[in-house]
Amino acid sequence: TGLCGREGASPSLGAGLCVYVYSLMQSMDQRDTWDRFYAQREERSGHFDWFFGYETVSGILLPTLQGLPPGPARLLDVGCGTSALGLELYRNCPRPLHVSCVDFSPVAVERLRRLLQAAPPPRHPLSRLGCHVADATNLGGAFEGGSFHLVFDKGTCDSLLRCPRGPGRAGEMVAECLRMLRPGGTLFQFSDEDPDARVPFLERASGCCQAGGGSVTVREAGQIGGICYYVYMLGRRVPEAAGQGGGTEN
Ligand SMILES: C[S@@+](CC[C@H](N)C(=O)[O-])C[C@H]1O[C@@H](n2cnc3c(N)ncnc32)[C@H](O)[C@@H]1O
Repeated sequence: TGLCGREGASPSLGAGLCVYVYSLMQSMDQRDTWDRFYAQREERSGHFDWFFGYETVSGILLPTLQGLPPGPARLLDVGCGTSALGLELYRNCPRPLHVSCVDFSPVAVERLRRLLQAAPPPRHPLSRLGCHVADATNLGGAFEGGSFHLVFDKGTCDSLLRCPRGPGRAGEMVAECLRMLRPGGTLFQFSDEDPDARVPFLERASGCCQAGGGSVTVREAGQIGGICYYVYMLGRRVPEAAGQGGGTEN
């Protein structure tokens, strides 16, 4: 599984911690599990990425961000943990970018806030980054529906799907991610799960979702330790009446 921080992803992740992560795999849908995990990492400084660092992911996301209409682009990193991605995109994106990083672990979010405070200013003066504690299956209290151009998930859906109680919640999470997207916006999921399993899962979740998901596309994102990782892209459909009423959706 990609949840054990494969080589090339997190150089500081030792064998002992890997064993610890495996022992957590039965309870990865529980907030306490993640609080303990991130508290254990508190003593080490810096970000922790489960797999793929900023370079790999930004190579895929930045072209999409650059292609959006003028004005601040809005990106939601769902289950951000202490990943460098949101913070580095905020710092380096040449266009104005409003990043919202959300995780249900207050320990992770507090750590990310501290990293943000210590970070140099963003390349674009209008860029913003916010860190939020919220459950990815119920984001209504934190954000307005239909407000993000991009929703990004690296390893969060994986952690729910691989947990015995998780698959139902993973479907709820995908539906909530789609609800957070503007019509025409895209959910990006990075995962090592094979397309034979992930594509039908996403199609089911999208088909059941009132927000109206479109079709799923997939491409290889890269390899770590000989294992292939994919990026899955699921768009939110533009309603046929879009542009006539001019209203926003919730
Ligand atoms: C495998 S880690 C990935 C972290 C980060 N995206 C990365 O790439 O390093 C999964 C993350 O999802 C978070 N998470 C799991 N279930 C969640 C939920 N229901 N709501 C919000 N965050 C959740 C965990 O706290 C954890 O930080």
